[in-house]
Amino acid sequence: MIEINNLKKRYGERTVLDIPSLSINDGETLALAGANGSGKTTLLKILGGTVKASEGSFSIPGSILYMPQNSYAFRGDLIRNILISGADRSKAFELLEKLELSHLADKKAKSLSGGELQRLSLCRVLSGKCDLLLLDEPTSACDANGAELVIKAIKDYQKSCGCTVIMSTHSPLLALNASDRLIILNSGKIEADGSPEETLANPGTQWAKSFIAGWKI
Ligand SMILES: Nc1ncnc2c1ncn2[C@@H]1O[C@H](COP(=O)(O)OP(=O)(O)OP(=O)(O)O)[C@@H](O)[C@H]1O
Ligand SMILES: [Mg+2]
Repeated sequence: MIEINNLKKRYGERTVLDIPSLSINDGETLALAGANGSGKTTLLKILGGTVKASEGSFSIPGSILYMPQNSYAFRGDLIRNILISGADRSKAFELLEKLELSHLADKKAKSLSGGELQRLSLCRVLSGKCDLLLLDEPTSACDANGAELVIKAIKDYQKSCGCTVIMSTHSPLLALNASDRLIILNSGKIEADGSPEETLANPGTQWAKSFIAGWKI
């Protein structure tokens, strides 16, 4: 279980994250939603260890894999871009197949389109093993088919290893159809927390209600 206590992140005078208490169960798939600047990436970076909290504590059991918001390509072809994480070739090909990138396997990764690059970035992450998978907007650059492929790959990965998944998103599809739990952040604070169905039916606050209405489901 991940336990967060009194977690705060400040930049100068500004508090951009303020979570008094949050528990995330092992094996849970949690979607983090919220407007631009609401603190989603900050929370993922703190949990992933790349940003230091200003206050508070959290516990993370086991190993972590992290997919950043901005996808990047290393030099060389797509296969090299996956093998660089330590994966074996058969795993790399299997993932490229799954994310419909195998026809580009020997092309330069730097020449990929935005959506293709994001799917490659997911291949790189999912080629490893972890207890906690952190994904920062994994479908943001994807078209409808790409988003479906990404969601299936995440779900299959979670099922195969039983890891906990925390992913930030602006996509109703990811927040509602691919998660057990939905947390909505507003200016660094938790505004809603529950199953996607519960949150849709009863958003809790007026703010959360209008935020969800903006999804136009
Ligand atoms: N290094 C930094 N210095 C100052 N402010 C920062 C820094 N990093 C993030 N912030 C601020 O913290 C707030 C939260 O940023 P964060 O990246 O977590 O938002 P987000 O919810 O991921 O937004 P988006 O949907 O645009 O990705 C923003 O207002 C941002 O400007
Ligand atoms: Mg972000």
